[in-house]
Amino acid sequence: MKEYILSFIIAYLIGSFISAYLIGKIFFKKDIREYGSRNTGATNALRVFGKKVAIITLFFDLFKAVLSLYFIDSIFGNQIATYIAAIGVVIGHNFPIYFSFKGGKGIASSAGVLLYFNRYVFLLCLLTFLLVVVLSRMVSLGSIISSFLAPVYGYLLTKDLNFTLTLFILAILAILRHKKNIIRILNHSENKLSLGGKS
Ligand code: G3P
Repeated sequence: MKEYILSFIIAYLIGSFISAYLIGKIFFKKDIREYGSRNTGATNALRVFGKKVAIITLFFDLFKAVLSLYFIDSIFGNQIATYIAAIGVVIGHNFPIYFSFKGGKGIASSAGVLLYFNRYVFLLCLLTFLLVVVLSRMVSLGSIISSFLAPVYGYLLTKDLNFTLTLFILAILAILRHKKNIIRILNHSENKLSLGGKS
């Protein structure tokens, strides 16, 4: 039990480092949470700071999840502890202890979780995400649909119930964090992706 609690806490503390917030504050003297969609993820970093910061944000958020899981696995060597860490790192990203619990929606970090555990589930989710984004030009819709399908792909490919449950919890977290996006999608007022503009 102790190792489950520790896994969660360590992963939560790593997940709480929010790259878009830190880059915004250090290099642009701006709190990303006051601009655009007010989210601290790569999509809003693209809107507010441009492509380079968006790419860095995406990689950092994905990498911190992979790193936490690798770290927890090396310390405890316990699959359940690593699944708990997966939930911890995404909750850390969404509700960061260092930044008044105002973080992101956990999509890039959830992608890192998929990449760490199963690259085929990761690839299927990535393809789903890209297809939806290309067709709709809404990153949020791509995030919602691929998060929703992740436990389905996870179950079909691995038949591992603990893995599937972990992805199911991440999907619920993602969908709850996209509440405002869902309302805008239903109102036909959701932001559409634009790659022009800032580099
Ligand atoms: O990963 C976040 C994305 O799904 C939506 O971001 O900034 O458009 O709310 P945003």
